[in-house]
Amino acid sequence: MQCSPDTTSTVWGHGPFRLRPRGPIFGQTYEDPGIELLAFKPQSRVFAIAGAGCTARALAAAGHSVTAVDVNARQLAYARSRTEGEPARLGVVERMLSFGRGLASLAGWSPARIMHFLSLSDGQEQVEYWDRWLDTPRWRAVFDTLLAPRLLGLFYAGPFVSALPQDFGARIRQRLRRGWSLHPNRSNPYASALLLGKAPAECGPALYPIQFVCADAAHFLENSQAVFDAFALSNIGDGASLAYQRRLRTAVERAAAPGAVLITRSFREPDSDTAANWAALDRSLLWGVVEVSRIGGGSAIRNPYMIEELHCQPRRGGAKHSIRPPLPNR
Ligand SMILES: C[S@@+](CC[C@H](N)C(=O)[O-])C[C@H]1O[C@@H](n2cnc3c(N)ncnc32)[C@H](O)[C@@H]1O
Repeated sequence: MQCSPDTTSTVWGHGPFRLRPRGPIFGQTYEDPGIELLAFKPQSRVFAIAGAGCTARALAAAGHSVTAVDVNARQLAYARSRTEGEPARLGVVERMLSFGRGLASLAGWSPARIMHFLSLSDGQEQVEYWDRWLDTPRWRAVFDTLLAPRLLGLFYAGPFVSALPQDFGARIRQRLRRGWSLHPNRSNPYASALLLGKAPAECGPALYPIQFVCADAAHFLENSQAVFDAFALSNIGDGASLAYQRRLRTAVERAAAPGAVLITRSFREPDSDTAANWAALDRSLLWGVVEVSRIGGGSAIRNPYMIEELHCQPRRGGAKHSIRPPLPNR
């Protein structure tokens, strides 16, 4: 597989870490393709960032025609191998998560508690169990230390760390708690992926073959004749310079069909919690921003469940979200 010369200014060209790993960075995707499946019109021509390929495979299995692009040749080869039936492998991210789970077990998370928590399906019960048995002061101290930008900066390249909120640990804990209140653990593959390291079940076979391309997203879109109805851009804006983000936006607009839909994610905190942010709907639980917008006019599309505001009340060491009825399974 040939990778086009690196013509991009995005830091992702060198990968997110200070050292370059030999294998894939992401063994699976921690993004819920349920968002894309909900927002894209049927049989769309989709431009998707490949990563581990999970989003591309889920969209192709649902009848979309997918072009999956990644600037990282190893990651792209891994994503392609998964569509050819190769088994999932652990990436650097899965090894880091496994290390974190080891520390959580030292901080008191027993397998029995985790299994019980994952067997629950009522949002209120999940939050109560979380507060009582898992969100302990010892676990919070470990978690916040592991996610402190200063510590992350030992492994991650500078721009990725600067893109994160200073209190990243506390923010991720809030997002987890919000997710427990909304999504039944028992049927949430991302809950077991995060807490047990279990890979989400595979989607069905692609209805159309996925086209894999090793290239920078902006470079590809600037030079391709293809037109797309939908764009799944993952969080490639995190850590990228403003200049690159503007270039990418122009390239997306150039390649977009009228009325095309764009989905971007980010680990940053949202500017304000509005219905334009679909992050609460994403069962992978980690995102601060999942923005769905229509290209041309750039108008944000409101999330269909109208989860608009997060009511914050003081709670030991953190904010509390209102408990809302669980979303229907997608
Ligand atoms: C942005 S990362 C995020 C992965 C995601 N957070 C997850 O849960 O798996 C996904 C992929 O995007 C690729 N990527 C980042 N910036 C890119 C760009 N400008 N063009 C093409 N691929 C890019 C990375 O190489 C990586 O494999």
